[in-house]
Amino acid sequence: MPALPGFRDFYPEDCERRNYVVGTWRAVARRYGFVEYDGPTLESGELYRKKNEEGAEILEQLYSFRDRGDREVALRPEMTPTLARMVAAKEKHFRKPMKWFCVSNFFRHERQQKGRLREFMQFNADIIGESSPEADAEIVALAVDLMRGFGFGGEHFVVRLSDRKAWMDFLASRGCDETQSRAVLACADKIEREAPEKLDEKLAGTGLTVADLRGFIAGGSPAAFAPVLAALEARGLRDFVEPDLSIVRGLAYYTGVVFEIFDRSKNLRAIAGGGRYDTLIKGLSDGASDLPAIGFGMGDVVLGHLIDETPAADAQRRAASVPACEVFVVVADEARRAEALRIVQVTRDLGWRTDFSLKPAKVGRQFQDAEGLGARHAVVVGAEWPAIKIKTLATRQEASVDQSELPALLGKPGAQPGSF
Ligand code: HAM
Repeated sequence: MPALPGFRDFYPEDCERRNYVVGTWRAVARRYGFVEYDGPTLESGELYRKKNEEGAEILEQLYSFRDRGDREVALRPEMTPTLARMVAAKEKHFRKPMKWFCVSNFFRHERQQKGRLREFMQFNADIIGESSPEADAEIVALAVDLMRGFGFGGEHFVVRLSDRKAWMDFLASRGCDETQSRAVLACADKIEREAPEKLDEKLAGTGLTVADLRGFIAGGSPAAFAPVLAALEARGLRDFVEPDLSIVRGLAYYTGVVFEIFDRSKNLRAIAGGGRYDTLIKGLSDGASDLPAIGFGMGDVVLGHLIDETPAADAQRRAASVPACEVFVVVADEARRAEALRIVQVTRDLGWRTDFSLKPAKVGRQFQDAEGLGARHAVVVGAEWPAIKIKTLATRQEASVDQSELPALLGKPGAQPGSF
């Protein structure tokens, strides 16, 4: 029986890919001084209903049900409401600005399409308690450096930077009320993906047309972006970013700078997206202090496709992979199995990934297994004990040594192995 549509099995190779992505996310976020947090997979459905209009895409995609206590609950579709809830509850405990990241799994009942699944991993990074453009730039810089951390360059991806506030000012100037504004933003979010006639239908009643939206996007004032771009310029990261007012973001809570990351060929869906949400936390805390915030999420699905399709990134991923077995202990004489087990323990204690045959097998077969597992060294324990043989499988170079010399010869993983 296969997994449900949109859900993935992770065989060891898939887990290794996922660990590479997750490990890179964590390493780069820590380089930026972010600390890790997490929340529950299951939340009260109300958390999502409270801040979203009925009919909002994120609500329609919610995996929600009544639990055995008759509570309405939902599998988290994103982290931001949980983060806002957690921060609102304990805000006073934390020095500002808070720089937090998480790596978790999320659930959305999406339509089947490339780059979108129903369970996916997402990295989130948020800065809470700082409203300056420096914080905006810090978040965008982190997003850029995550991409660089995977081996991507400016030829592979672009951060498209926009501003919800510029949109809200434009909509106010055109006399749109809140409901109309929401309808217009939802259409603007789909302007590159949906047919103009269909969007014009949805815009009916707002007083605006697709042509008006395109006009605004083409003529939007870049002045709003100047301080963020200047801070990115100072870091040497300006060229990764393009101001682009066609980005509005699908989620309701954004109040200022918003951005998405796309692959340069634009063949794929967004790799990451986020922005400023200065009122969400206050709204969840029933009057807690005003906490401006900005952050973004980056999923593992589109990112994974882009790594596969980009030779430099794919080569980097492969180079980072360590075989399951580095040292294979060959039991050449079953009478010496106990000594062989001791050697296995010695090399494991040194930190080498060590394997051996769990049952008697011909020596040739054991060497085949060693090679099949990608081992670098074979250590042969046989009738010559306490002499043993160390063999480097790639070069076939081998030496006969006393078993007591093995730790010094192998050394610690990562260090150059001793010569023999
Ligand atoms: P989002 O744009 O909904 O934002 O998701 C961010 C990223 O998560 C997307 O660009 C995509 O890479 C990935 N993603 C989203 N849905 C799916 C899916 N069904 N399958 C695979 N990948 C997906 C948010 O979630 C915001 N909460 C981000 C944020 C954090 N804003 C402020 N702080």
